[in-house]
Amino acid sequence: MDRGINDIGIIGLAVMGRNLVLNIADKGFSVAAFNRTTAVTQEFAGTLQPGQKIQPCYSLEEFVGALTKPRAVMIMVKAGNAVDAVIEGLVPVLEPGDIIIDGGNSYFGDTDRRVKSLAERGIHFLGVGISGGEFGARYGPSMMPGGPREAYEPVRVIFEAIAAKADGQPCVTYLGPASAGHYVKMVHNGIEYGVMQLISETYALMKMALGLTNDELARVYADWDAGELNSYLVEITSKIFRRRDDSTGSYLIDVILGEAGQLGTGMWTSQSAMDLHVPVPNIDVAVAMRSLSALEEERALAARLLTSVGGVPKTASQPHIEHVRGALRAAMIITYAQGFAHLRVASKALGFNLNLEDVAGVWRGGCIIRALLLRDIKGAFERSPELPNLLLDPPLSHEVASLRPALAEVVGGATISGIPVPGFMNALAYLDAYRTEWLPSNLIQAQRDYFGAHTYRRVDRDGIFHTDWLTE
Ligand code: 6PG
Repeated sequence: MDRGINDIGIIGLAVMGRNLVLNIADKGFSVAAFNRTTAVTQEFAGTLQPGQKIQPCYSLEEFVGALTKPRAVMIMVKAGNAVDAVIEGLVPVLEPGDIIIDGGNSYFGDTDRRVKSLAERGIHFLGVGISGGEFGARYGPSMMPGGPREAYEPVRVIFEAIAAKADGQPCVTYLGPASAGHYVKMVHNGIEYGVMQLISETYALMKMALGLTNDELARVYADWDAGELNSYLVEITSKIFRRRDDSTGSYLIDVILGEAGQLGTGMWTSQSAMDLHVPVPNIDVAVAMRSLSALEEERALAARLLTSVGGVPKTASQPHIEHVRGALRAAMIITYAQGFAHLRVASKALGFNLNLEDVAGVWRGGCIIRALLLRDIKGAFERSPELPNLLLDPPLSHEVASLRPALAEVVGGATISGIPVPGFMNALAYLDAYRTEWLPSNLIQAQRDYFGAHTYRRVDRDGIFHTDWLTE
C-alpha cells in the first residue's frame, strides 16, 4: 500500500481498537493500524482478509507516514498514563493541524489538560466517549465527541459512517468544546451504574421474595424488554439468566461471585456531581453498593451477627411482578433524570453548551444505556431545550407520579422483609424530596446559625439574618 493514503490511523489493537479498525474499513475508509507491541500488530495482520483497506504499521514513523494530512490518529489504549505515553511519542512526529483522538474512558480533567497542552503545539485533541463494548466498536457504537470543533469536521464523515443508527440517524454528533465528550460519556456510565443497580434489585426481589427460578426470571425480563422497559440492559439480563456454565452445566449466574468491580467512571460521576452540588443519589448508591459488595468477609460476619439482633425480618406480602416492573420504569426515569440534570449544570459551569436533545439522540443506539425511554427523553428536550430536570416534563412527570404507588409498594415490602433495595429507596426519596415544596432544611439553617453563625434567609423578608441563639 502507498504511503500517506489512509484516512485515519488507530493506535492500540486490543479488542476495542481492532474492532474499530474493522468497522472503519467495512465502511469503505482506509485505516493504518499500529500497536506498540509488534507481535500484537503481526497477529492482527495475520487475521486480515485480502482487499481489506487496512495497513498494519510496525513503527510510529511508518504509521504517521501512512496517513493523509491533516492526520487523524485515534488512540485506543487504557485510560490514564498509557494515553499520555502515546501522546508523548506522537507529538514529535505529527505536524500542526493534525488531530489526536482519544477514544478511551479518560477522566475529563485529563482531557482538558491534553486539549490545552496540545493546542499550544498546534495539534488538535478530541476526547471521544465510545460506548457499546466490543460488539459496538465492531458494528456500531454510540460516540460522544468533544474538543475543538474545527477538528471534528475532518473525521465527521468517518464517525457518522461507523456509529450505530437510531431512527436512521447516526448516534454521534459534536457535543461541545474541551472535555465535553468525555464528560458526557462519564455521566453515561454513571447512569449505567444506576440502572444496573436497579435491575440487580429487581433480581433480588423476584428471587428472594417470589422465589422465581432463573428460567422464570429470563422470561420476565424478556417480557419487560418487549414493553416500555425495552433497553439493552434489560435485554442482556434476560439472556444472562438462560446461560449455562460450560464446566458445571449449572446456571452460570449462580456460580458468579457477587463482588462487583468498578473501573472508576461511576465514582467520577458521583464526585463531579458532588463538586457541582447536583444530587445524583441513584448513581452515588450504585457506586457505594459495588464497594459494599466487595466486603465479602465482613458481610458474612454481619449476616450472622446482625440477623440475630432484633429477630429475622418479617416476610412482607409478596411483591406483585407488575409493581416491580412499574417501580423499575419509575426508578429508571428518575436515574436518567439525575444524569441529565447533572449534565445541565455541568454544561453551564464548564462551558460545554451541551444540547441535551442531541445527547439523548446519541444515546438512543449503540451504547450500554440505550433504551426506548431515550425517545421520550429526546422528545422532552425537543419540547423544552432548557428543561432543568426531566421530572418537570409533563408526560414523564405524569408517568412517574402514576407509578409512585408501585415504587412505594416495592420499597415498603422489601424494607419489611429485609431485602436491600437502596436504588429503589433512593429513587423514591429523590422523587418525594423533589416534589415536596416544604423541606425541613429550615431546621438545618437554624442549627448552622446556632452553632456557627452561618446566617439564614427568611421567608417573609429579603436579606441575610443571624440570631443570637444564646439569649432567650
Ligand atoms: C460502555 C461501557 C464501558 C465499560 C465500562 C465498565 O459504555 O461501553 O460503559 O465503557 O464497560 O467502563 O465500567 P465498570 O468496569 O466501572 O463497570
